[in-house]
Amino acid sequence: MPLWDGRFSQSPAEQILKLSESISYDRRLYPYDIEGSLAHAKMLARQAIIPKEDARKIAAGLKQVKKELDSGKFVFKTELEDIHMNIEARLTELIGPAGARLHTGRSRNDQIATDERLYLRQQDDEVCDAIRKLQYALWKLAADNETVILPGFTHLQHAQPVLFAHHLLAYMEMLNRDIERLADCRHRINRLPLGAGALAGSTLPLDREFVAKELGFEEVLKNSMDAVADRDVSIEFLSALAIVAMHLSRLAEDIAIWFSQEFAFVEIGDAFTTGSSLMPQKKNPDIAELTRGKTGRVYGALVGLLTTLKGLPLTYNRDLQEDKEGLFDAIDTIKLVLSTVSAMLATVKPNAERMLEAASDPALMATDLAEALVRQGVPFREAHHQVGRFVGACARKGITLAQADLAFMKESIPTATPEFLKIFDPKHSVSARDIIGGTAPAQVHAQLLKWSKQFGVTMPLSTKKSKNRT
Ligand code: ARG
Repeated sequence: MPLWDGRFSQSPAEQILKLSESISYDRRLYPYDIEGSLAHAKMLARQAIIPKEDARKIAAGLKQVKKELDSGKFVFKTELEDIHMNIEARLTELIGPAGARLHTGRSRNDQIATDERLYLRQQDDEVCDAIRKLQYALWKLAADNETVILPGFTHLQHAQPVLFAHHLLAYMEMLNRDIERLADCRHRINRLPLGAGALAGSTLPLDREFVAKELGFEEVLKNSMDAVADRDVSIEFLSALAIVAMHLSRLAEDIAIWFSQEFAFVEIGDAFTTGSSLMPQKKNPDIAELTRGKTGRVYGALVGLLTTLKGLPLTYNRDLQEDKEGLFDAIDTIKLVLSTVSAMLATVKPNAERMLEAASDPALMATDLAEALVRQGVPFREAHHQVGRFVGACARKGITLAQADLAFMKESIPTATPEFLKIFDPKHSVSARDIIGGTAPAQVHAQLLKWSKQFGVTMPLSTKKSKNRT
């Protein structure tokens, strides 16, 4: 019979166990469940709600249960439904009647909410660490190839030349905001539900502040109904993970595109690509593709939990048990993807010649030409028009912009000077974008330096600089 069998005359129907059990997946919460119980029992004794001797037995028993769980010897029982009742039942088996005092002033409703917050706090830290490792891999790839130039794209069309390092550092910024979001969310996770009881608090003089301190929570949740009913911190955490997944997916997409034969901008190490079972010549960027593909699971977990919560009346409803599997899966997925992508990036090698060749189309410097006119005092719209005329004239004549002589250029751009003919050099083009946030080598180097300080490493890491330097 379950621990709550008092008012029942029949055992639960066999079939409902499969639907109602959560022990098959909530067992991963055991360290937090035990941590919470230790703090709770300690407080109960301090408040003279239970005898000190019983609290001592409870603490020793819980430590014994933890040992069994750590070693894998613990026998989980499905009929005990969840991790809370599995642990409590084993505790009572071990220490006898004192075990029956542990659940004083507590409900599984505030217990599970507490376990989840302790777990999320830990996961928040671990995901941030994994993101930092990926940032380091990005930084290393950028710093080792500081002078490599490739075309930057808009609409997946060649737009303007940029440094490869600048492109990579864009992801660095995105991932940094992900860490900021997780750090911010951590404060809201880090609040104590225990003491809320089933929903309304307790008639016993529980010291919630003490429990919060014991468990390292920043504060106590101020409304007992809120404490057991909401899962908004899980939703917030999943939202942050969904954004991480989206960023990883875009990085993966860039890498898959760069790796295609049409681009051939990067090589990926053999250990991080896969072959085809049919076509012997194939080398596929499966890691990048799976990174992109796994994003759906993480979004799914977020939408799933939002949907589970939307119609629930206050306070606890058993629907809330459905908050776990998607959350756990999203966390496992993100951690796996982060570590795999970090390892893959360490094997990525840019093909500097190929990238420079693609960035050398003089048309990519058309904006630079228009801005040269702006420097002469020509209004930008007019400059844009003149350069447009020049691009059209070149196309009709079947030459590139760089093949035009000054006289031909002057037919479209009357104030063109010999200096204008030197604009069609991608190295010149990136160097000229020397403002904060621009792609000029000086700006990018300053950013690389800033990040290197954050990682506590020195620049430059590698002496083998690529040939295509600015
Ligand atoms: N396994 C349950 C959950 O995860 C614990 C809380 C159960 N509370 C209850 N009143 N049945 O939500």
